[in-house]
Amino acid sequence: MRAALWLLALFGVAVAAALFAGNNQGTITLYWPPYRIDFSLNMVVLLLVTSFVTVYAALRALAALLELPHQARRWRVQQKERAMHSAMLDALTHMLAGRFIRSRKAALSALVKEETLAAAVRREIQVAFPDIAEVRITFTADVKGKNSGGNVGLKIKNVIAVGSGKGGVGKSTVAASLAYALQHFGAKVGLMDADVYGPSIPHLVGAQGQPAIRQFQTPDGRTFERIEPILADGLKVMSMGFMVGADQAVIWRGPMLHKALTQFMQQTDWGDLDYLIVDMPPGTGDVALTLSQMVSLAGAVVVCTPQQVALLDAGKAISMFHTVKIPILGMVENMTGEIFGRGGAKAKAQAMGVPFLGEIPIDPIIRILGDEGRIGALFTTENSVKQPLLDIASNVAMRIAAELLENPALPTLEIL
Ligand SMILES: Nc1ncnc2c1ncn2[C@@H]1O[C@H](COP(=O)(O)OP(=O)(O)OP(=O)(O)O)[C@@H](O)[C@H]1O
Ligand SMILES: [Mg+2]
Repeated sequence: MRAALWLLALFGVAVAAALFAGNNQGTITLYWPPYRIDFSLNMVVLLLVTSFVTVYAALRALAALLELPHQARRWRVQQKERAMHSAMLDALTHMLAGRFIRSRKAALSALVKEETLAAAVRREIQVAFPDIAEVRITFTADVKGKNSGGNVGLKIKNVIAVGSGKGGVGKSTVAASLAYALQHFGAKVGLMDADVYGPSIPHLVGAQGQPAIRQFQTPDGRTFERIEPILADGLKVMSMGFMVGADQAVIWRGPMLHKALTQFMQQTDWGDLDYLIVDMPPGTGDVALTLSQMVSLAGAVVVCTPQQVALLDAGKAISMFHTVKIPILGMVENMTGEIFGRGGAKAKAQAMGVPFLGEIPIDPIIRILGDEGRIGALFTTENSVKQPLLDIASNVAMRIAAELLENPALPTLEIL
């Protein structure tokens, strides 16, 4: 529209110029008795062009004037949005400061739920802006971490070990479920099976095949190799189970175990990960020691069943993690129910001064889906263990966040 008007104006100027150039002598007479005015044709054209330009400018000025209240309103909305944003940040900071920073003890017991946080933010906003009818809050995963993988050239924000003192209490099940649950919340997750002698992760997640080995080049021309993890519903999985046949035994001495784990961790092409969950073998501290020497772990989740004999071993696992300087994120009670009882792990956690992360009921659905290699389906179907597992995963993430607030990550030097 504007271009058309400019063209019209240019056309008028061109006509006027042409008339002047042609020295046109014609006249127009306005006759209103007894008055009479003679206009030369040149003058008429000039008058027309000038009045056109004047009207155009006047219209534009009017349009700008009419637009002014809109602009003021837009500006006010922007101001309000900015204020809302800062009120939200204030609310969050307030919550986090109140819950986490005040004391370490408070930090350990505070596992803030999404609903609590959302309610607090909503309250703050509604106090600051009473005329706002509805406040919608969306949570997304923006995971912070120690970036512990940076020490060995990995881009992994948090490495979490899942261990126990006793075999068969459900470590692998909890490790795989934790990985799927964190992925369910939107995080990028990897799952490493550190149980070299009895790898069960490939079976649980239904992953098979031989990992490919790829060659890469550094900018200065050196070549290095990386193992491609196997994908299981978006999870990056690595396990000794991919390297040996299902019934083939792995017979190694300690140093070879150390070497294999180092390779799994450092030479797997994990890419960018928010969490790497490590499924630990039962018992001894060998693997934990190797891990803690390699990366700075976000912490360990200790799994145990509720009965007394199992709890004794859980205590040993906790002191083993303490010895190799891996922080304890907390304890999970697995197989809670009529068979093994309930509450033993919570009491043990309290007695040992570690957080309790939640309980998983004993339910055949876990065994069935695990046997079918579809443990991830726990989160895509309705069942009684889905919510307890999601709660445990969010508690683990909260514990890591609380730990980070208390001991912020140090910058790491990346090497290849
Ligand atoms: N909450 C539960 N309800 C029912 N079955 C369960 C539950 N948790 C684990 N299981 C089942 O218990 C068995 C052992 O679990 P899992 O292999 O995860 O234990 P583990 O501690 O990793 O064992 P290992 O020490 O041999 O590595 C599996 O068959 C699994 O499906
Ligand atoms: Mg296992």
